[in-house]
Amino acid sequence: MSIKNNISPVLEIKDLKKSFGDHQVLKGFNVSLYPQENVVIMGKSGSGKSVMIKCLVGLMKATSGTIKIKNKDISILGQTELDFLRTEIGFLFQGSALYDSMTVRENLEFPLRRHKDKLRFRESVHDLVHEALENVGLVDAIDLMPSELSGGMKRRVALARALILKPSIMLYDEPTTGLDPITAKEIIHLMRNIQDRYGTSSLIITHDVDCARVISNRIILLVDGINYAEGTYDELSSSKDSMTKMFFK
Ligand SMILES: Nc1ncnc2c1ncn2[C@@H]1O[C@H](COP(=O)(O)OP(=O)(O)OP(=O)(O)O)[C@@H](O)[C@H]1O
Ligand SMILES: [Mg+2]
Repeated sequence: MSIKNNISPVLEIKDLKKSFGDHQVLKGFNVSLYPQENVVIMGKSGSGKSVMIKCLVGLMKATSGTIKIKNKDISILGQTELDFLRTEIGFLFQGSALYDSMTVRENLEFPLRRHKDKLRFRESVHDLVHEALENVGLVDAIDLMPSELSGGMKRRVALARALILKPSIMLYDEPTTGLDPITAKEIIHLMRNIQDRYGTSSLIITHDVDCARVISNRIILLVDGINYAEGTYDELSSSKDSMTKMFFK
């Protein structure tokens, strides 16, 4: 019997369907994410990976299916409960999505001001901003504007912002896309450090085979709106199935 039989997932997506008019993007997708696990979702461009994550964080409404976060069905929660649950989730958007008119410090302060109640005793906004920037090695950039940062630095600031409320679940949408291989490796390294330091569970959407190899405990392939295959990196990358093979070329 697997140990997972006794542990409930921190996040569970069941039979998720999402259509835009006649276009069925997700046709019954399932994900369970267990404590301190890194699950990677791979799928070709346009397969619905970002749509799935947007349904998960409430930026989009699913056509049907259930989404449970920490055993709570998000569709039946009130606004207060939902807001609280959101502070448990850090989301690194595809691209970096920093506020261009705010400094790095202001970008990081933004989620703190929105969720003041999550601040614990003795933790000042200043200390939290510093800690978050230290985690990504960018304390010196605190007063810069996003336009003064390189692509890799922006991604790190976005990562710091996603982490500032010390979420127990992290969602990463293409964390390494658009970065050079060395910077991509640095970001993957940071993601691992963060997991070790805070015991976070992560759902990671990526095309990047290297990223999937280094970071995943489990990989799910999303094809035609459903789970096509699932397994460890070693299992899937040595698969004889022609569709599965294409992902690991
Ligand atoms: N707001 C929307 N209205 C209509 N169609 C949409 C909307 N958002 C996404 N789609 C469609 O849903 C499909 C999946 O989009 P999605 O952004 O999830 O792809 P993806 O798997 O994240 O791709 P990529 O790897 O390029 O980021 C696409 O065909 C897209 O056109
Ligand atoms: Mg996407």
